[in-house]
Amino acid sequence: MANIVLIGGQWGDEGKGKVVDLLTPHFDIVGRYSGGPNAGHTVRRGDRKYALRHIPSGILTPAVSCIIGNGVVVDPAALLEEIGFLTGAGVSLKSRFWISNRAHVILPPYIEWETRREESDTGRKIGTTRRGVGPAYAAKITRTGIRIIDLYDPGTLAARLSDAVALFEGGERLGGSPSGAAGAEIARLVSACASHAEALKPFVTDTVRLLGDRIRAGSSVLFEGAQGTMLDIDHGSYPYVTSSSSTAGGACTGLGVSPTQIDGVMGVFKAYSTRVGEGPFPTEQTGAPGERLRERGHEYGTVTGRPRRCGWFDAVAARYAARINGMDCAALTLLDVLDGFDELQICTAYRHGGSVIKEFPVEPWILSDCTPVYTKVAGWKNDTTECRTVEALPGPALDYVKTIEDLIECDIDLVSVGPTPEGSIVRPVSKLSAWLEDAE
Ligand code: IMP
Ligand code: MG
Repeated sequence: MANIVLIGGQWGDEGKGKVVDLLTPHFDIVGRYSGGPNAGHTVRRGDRKYALRHIPSGILTPAVSCIIGNGVVVDPAALLEEIGFLTGAGVSLKSRFWISNRAHVILPPYIEWETRREESDTGRKIGTTRRGVGPAYAAKITRTGIRIIDLYDPGTLAARLSDAVALFEGGERLGGSPSGAAGAEIARLVSACASHAEALKPFVTDTVRLLGDRIRAGSSVLFEGAQGTMLDIDHGSYPYVTSSSSTAGGACTGLGVSPTQIDGVMGVFKAYSTRVGEGPFPTEQTGAPGERLRERGHEYGTVTGRPRRCGWFDAVAARYAARINGMDCAALTLLDVLDGFDELQICTAYRHGGSVIKEFPVEPWILSDCTPVYTKVAGWKNDTTECRTVEALPGPALDYVKTIEDLIECDIDLVSVGPTPEGSIVRPVSKLSAWLEDAE
């Protein structure tokens, strides 16, 4: 049995959901370890569309158990909506869906604070999804957060809520006892939290123990990353990042497993680049190629509906992602979106001042001010959506994949050319194919 981490190698929205979908039947458990309702994927099953924010899409595979780990921040109201939607659609969650009792909770005042901050005219806008994810992690790190377990003790909850809320309201209530309007607000929150807690109770457990026991008993786990490497709080383009560890290392802390229990890491890259929200994006194309990528790739945010910024594949950022995640192999998704371009470009380095930079820079001023150095690659006219083997791809498409593979120094074991499972081409003799056999 293999335990594998699947992560995004760019700025999120790499098509991880589709790869997870393909891999899930080979695993016993799918666990999510970071982020919160800022993530969103839409999964289609027949005529039905499932919009999932917290719950791994593995839930749609009946034999698989799903876990929301301690590293995730949970919006109880939004999660209950997801649960309601799934059960309404006939998906049974009983004894196969678990929420960590250590996961932190997103409170409505966090969302209000984040919205105010994003809308204020300070020039510090991040372009967040406004789901309260950043404030929930801020509360966690400043040790004023509320964990799922805290919802079950009214005394603890009332005492902690006051501090949690005060963190975002100038701190005036910190240490003091809430009174007047503030007291009423806390009372409202206590009661809302209590009712959410009751509804979530059947799913809440010590997932660290559960997962540890299952792994020891031989279960295989797919660790489902959210967002992407360039949005990681430590390794991304800070401060234009999300507030969690979206790289492979987050799987250990976010689900309470040891690095020794992980057998491999697979990265997911889109065949071009997209980004939502603010922040540097060296290969962004604001003109015709960008528009074309957006329209062909339906590049609009699933959570916020915002048009995604689109651009050429950035091999500098991708090689960095492959390295820091120790990717054993990668998937290249949405290759079919590139069908019909006369010529494609791949960024191989950045130029800044007089120098050529080949390693992803840590300096935000370089990242926002550099000019990409591109290699041009011939496009292809053929439709790739019917290709079912690597050999069936048009010559230039195969060259495009191989060029990326060489530049990022990581094998591409899966190429995806369409939204259906048949549109995923797995390289027959590869690390990925070996894992999949191993996980049977
Ligand atoms: P937050 O995670 O809502 O705080 O947003 C911080 C940054 O991460 C913004 O640029 C968001 O657009 C981006 N972001 C967060 N989640 C996702 C995602 O699932 N896909 C793509 N971008 C995301
Ligand atoms: Mg998404």
